[in-house]
Amino acid sequence: MSIKRIAVNTGGGDAPGLNAVIRAVVLTAEKYGWDVLGIRDSYDGLFQDDGVVSLDRKSVSGITHLGGTILGTTNRGNPLKWPRPQPDGSVRYEDWSQKVVDAFDDLGVDAVIAIGGDGSLDIAHKLSLKGLRVVGVPKTIDNDLAATNLTFGFMTAVETATDALGKLHSTAEAHERVMVVELMGRTAGWLSLFAGVAGTADVILIPEIPYDMDVVCRKIEERYTSGSEFAIVVVAEGAFPAGGQPLFKETAEGQKRLGGMAKRVSDEIHERTGRETRELVLGHLQRGGGPNAYDRLLALRFGAAAADLVAEERFGTMVALDPPHVLAVPLEEGIAHIKHVPLDSDVIATARSLGICLGD
Ligand code: F6P
Repeated sequence: MSIKRIAVNTGGGDAPGLNAVIRAVVLTAEKYGWDVLGIRDSYDGLFQDDGVVSLDRKSVSGITHLGGTILGTTNRGNPLKWPRPQPDGSVRYEDWSQKVVDAFDDLGVDAVIAIGGDGSLDIAHKLSLKGLRVVGVPKTIDNDLAATNLTFGFMTAVETATDALGKLHSTAEAHERVMVVELMGRTAGWLSLFAGVAGTADVILIPEIPYDMDVVCRKIEERYTSGSEFAIVVVAEGAFPAGGQPLFKETAEGQKRLGGMAKRVSDEIHERTGRETRELVLGHLQRGGGPNAYDRLLALRFGAAAADLVAEERFGTMVALDPPHVLAVPLEEGIAHIKHVPLDSDVIATARSLGICLGD
């Protein structure tokens, strides 16, 4: 088929580098002579006035270094379960996937580049089964997508969290305190492990290694008795004690989200050791700001490669990093499972060699 027009959207939680992908898609499309439409807020824009915008060289100029996404995003909209408020105040969920496919047809879109994490790529996969010609681009600061060595946004989040740990050292030392920092990552410990090791934390608790509080407190006491009278503890939001469960809290919208571990760990350390503790949830700072150089480059490579895959008509795939190459893998491989930190990871081994306590 001859491609004339493509569309691009960004779905799920934002990650530094989304704009760089959009720019690379648009410039590569221009090389092929295609029009590009941007769909606002994942697929929501298809059904909204002004929800579809034309993208050209000018509209993507100067955005590579910017955080967020010029197209907006949402981690609520799912065309397979579209919320329809009912007159009685309740909400009914409808499958709008065919409406989405038809809306792209009406716009004369020949192929869609969907940039997102596991949820958005799962939607893209299901839409591709309905006949939509899709190529995916994997993003998430959690780095938990299977089939790609890295997702863009992750390295920037590691840098942000590492900077924060660096700053916490001086105040922890000044007050002889234990600072407990909760990092994002859902059920994977990549962000906590990488930032924790780079930021020289004393304890790193990740979901892949259920922790024992006795071991953690022993490490804290060792620090104080050996003359380093402060400690930095990194806890992943999805970490949990051996035999226990992860903690969840409810958002204002009534959604369940992982959270609360910093407080739990901080309180327990204080109760058991008597040391003064403080906790910090780094939260969405980890998703904010522009991409670092590594993520800019990865995002630009992913965007250009995704457009190339459209040109080669390799639909139902996503781009993936298999160092040093960017290649195509089937979308279902990317979403097959959450990529956890393997227990034989060399970064885990490095942490242990450095004497960092992993709670086991
Ligand atoms: O998937 C990325 C992520 O940042 C997770 O690490 C975190 O649990 C989640 O998004 C928070 O999402 P939000 O607050 O935007 O719903």
